[in-house]
Amino acid sequence: MTKLLNDRFLRALHRQPVDRTPVWIMRQAGRYMPEYKSLRSRVGDFLTLCKTPEFACEATLLPLQRFDLDAAILFSDILMIPEAMGMGLSFVAEEGPKFSSVITAASDINKLPCLDPEDDLSYISAAIRLIVKNLNNSVPLIGFAGSPWTVATYMVEGQTSKQFYKIKGLMYQEPRLLHQLLAHMTIETTKALQAQINAGVNAVMMFDTWGGILNDALYKEFSLRYMAEIVANLKSDNPTIPIILFSKNSGRCLTEQAATGCDALGLDWTVNLAKARELVGDKVALQGNLDPCVLYASKQRIAVETKAVLEQYGSGPGHIFNLGHGIPLDVDPDNVQVILDVVKGVTWR
Ligand code: CP3
Repeated sequence: MTKLLNDRFLRALHRQPVDRTPVWIMRQAGRYMPEYKSLRSRVGDFLTLCKTPEFACEATLLPLQRFDLDAAILFSDILMIPEAMGMGLSFVAEEGPKFSSVITAASDINKLPCLDPEDDLSYISAAIRLIVKNLNNSVPLIGFAGSPWTVATYMVEGQTSKQFYKIKGLMYQEPRLLHQLLAHMTIETTKALQAQINAGVNAVMMFDTWGGILNDALYKEFSLRYMAEIVANLKSDNPTIPIILFSKNSGRCLTEQAATGCDALGLDWTVNLAKARELVGDKVALQGNLDPCVLYASKQRIAVETKAVLEQYGSGPGHIFNLGHGIPLDVDPDNVQVILDVVKGVTWR
């Protein structure tokens, strides 16, 4: 791999010393940025944005043009895998994702195709190659996928859910069927992430947004186990590629998460960084975990809270600053600059 001009993020993932804590923001290319909103209205719809390599590249680079961030993240979505499987994905304004077909029976799972990512998700590989070329070794590029469990919640519920009655009903009624779906998604997700690695991403992150709706035993059985399989699959063919695992609301299973063989854990704001560090020792790096809603506060308060996160982690390597979840769509982008200033050592009073 060519030497990156800024490898702070990769060094921190490997728990190597860095000159300062690296920082990037989950959902850094999004609607809080006027530049994103104007690209989005120029393109029309979100799926076209994701599926057109030139637009996906432009969206990926937008936050880096405004902010001095230490990593870029591929502009795409965790739902592109089921979309490529023909489940009929659309994004309805103010309502989020909707699938026109949902998984309810064994026959639906048996019908799910096996993808060839180089063909069915070729626009992602093309976008990655274009982004890597445009980044010109300035900062690393993060590739990503959803966890099998989290993506399955959308495939079974058909949309973002509040109660998750359908997938939890399936889990208790027909656990074998759900395991069949999760096993299929594990294979497909491994292939999709391998294609992203082949196209040139420098690290991969797995988003498990909904792992936290399960109790510990069920989290391990239905979510963590499959993420661990993906980590093992990827590591056997790409031993040096750093893998970040982010299971929101699952701070009670950090030891088990660290044992998957991943390189870093993404943490939401409910986790105490010092305690997490004590638990995982030098096994993994930690990424997080400022409450995104802090961005609604005054600049002074944002500075205080950012500093508190840095202090809670303490000194020594292995911390990547980030929010504890995606940035809200209606915050002032100037407030993001306060976080970056504080992480870079600018004094705010
Ligand atoms: O972080 C980045 O800048 C990279 C791009 C990225 C998007 N989605 C773009 C996006 C990433 C990493 C994701 C991950 C994702 N997508 C997750 C996991 C992380 C998380 O936030 O929990 C989930 C659950 C999804 C599914 C999804 N995509 C939902 C529920 C929605 C609708 C809600 C919303 O925020 O609008 C999306 C749409 C989406 N994905 C947008 C963006 C920029 C907004 C689309 C628009 O322009 O209208």
